[in-house]
Amino acid sequence: MIRKPLIAGNWKMHMTVADARHLVSEMVPGLQSKSGVDKVVCPPHTALLAVSSLLEGTDIALGAQNMYWETAGAFTGEISPNMVAEFCEYVILGHSERRTFFGETDKDVNRKVQAAFAYGLTPIFCIGETLEEYEADRTYEVVFRQVKMGLEAIQFDNSGDGDGSNLVVAYEPIWAIGTGRAATPTDANQVIAEVIRPALGELFGEGMAQRIRVLYGGSVNGENAQGFFSQSEIDGALVGGASLKVADFIQITLAAVR
Ligand code: 13P
Repeated sequence: MIRKPLIAGNWKMHMTVADARHLVSEMVPGLQSKSGVDKVVCPPHTALLAVSSLLEGTDIALGAQNMYWETAGAFTGEISPNMVAEFCEYVILGHSERRTFFGETDKDVNRKVQAAFAYGLTPIFCIGETLEEYEADRTYEVVFRQVKMGLEAIQFDNSGDGDGSNLVVAYEPIWAIGTGRAATPTDANQVIAEVIRPALGELFGEGMAQRIRVLYGGSVNGENAQGFFSQSEIDGALVGGASLKVADFIQITLAAVR
């Protein structure tokens, strides 16, 4: 197994600081020191500071859910990569909710990925087709375009971080997010095998494409997680709703241990 599994919890717009502290304190004992799997939690920006202090000394990493690409300036309401890097190792970029509700384009996401690399953050770069595109059999075309445009001109350093571990891709079919209708493990695996990894190969070379972790996201829970992780191309999960439930998130994480 060349790729270490990774489980990331995307809390979305949930949890006040007090709620976040409570959730993390309950989760840490069950997640901590489970070797063979990387663990990341991504609270809203307002809870990053509180959660980062609770995670100190654990092997659970912190991620943000979004950021802007500029370093500083008159961009009211935004936060910059260096601000995120003060607390986080990871940052979710290009989530479908950002693309759908906040108008993020492939080009915007590309700028954000470049900025994340510049500040030593590991992007969890999200892609996935809408229900309409899925039903029109356009999944491959859409996902291929998202990978090629979102990761255009990204340069891996040939040493140090250049092993592919500083980029994570999350394939999240939009019709599977928050719907309880997950993709089948074999379908998700096929999209990764036939489109996502080949597109990564065109961008970065075959060897690198084999080292980049690709997660599945969309209605993953404690019950169905194992089915995804038994697929050869699925290296973990980006979990929404179930990441707010202690028992589920721990069960998903344990299912990923190799
Ligand atoms: P759900 O797990 O709630 O379907 O959300 C998936 C997701 O969007 C994670 O980023």
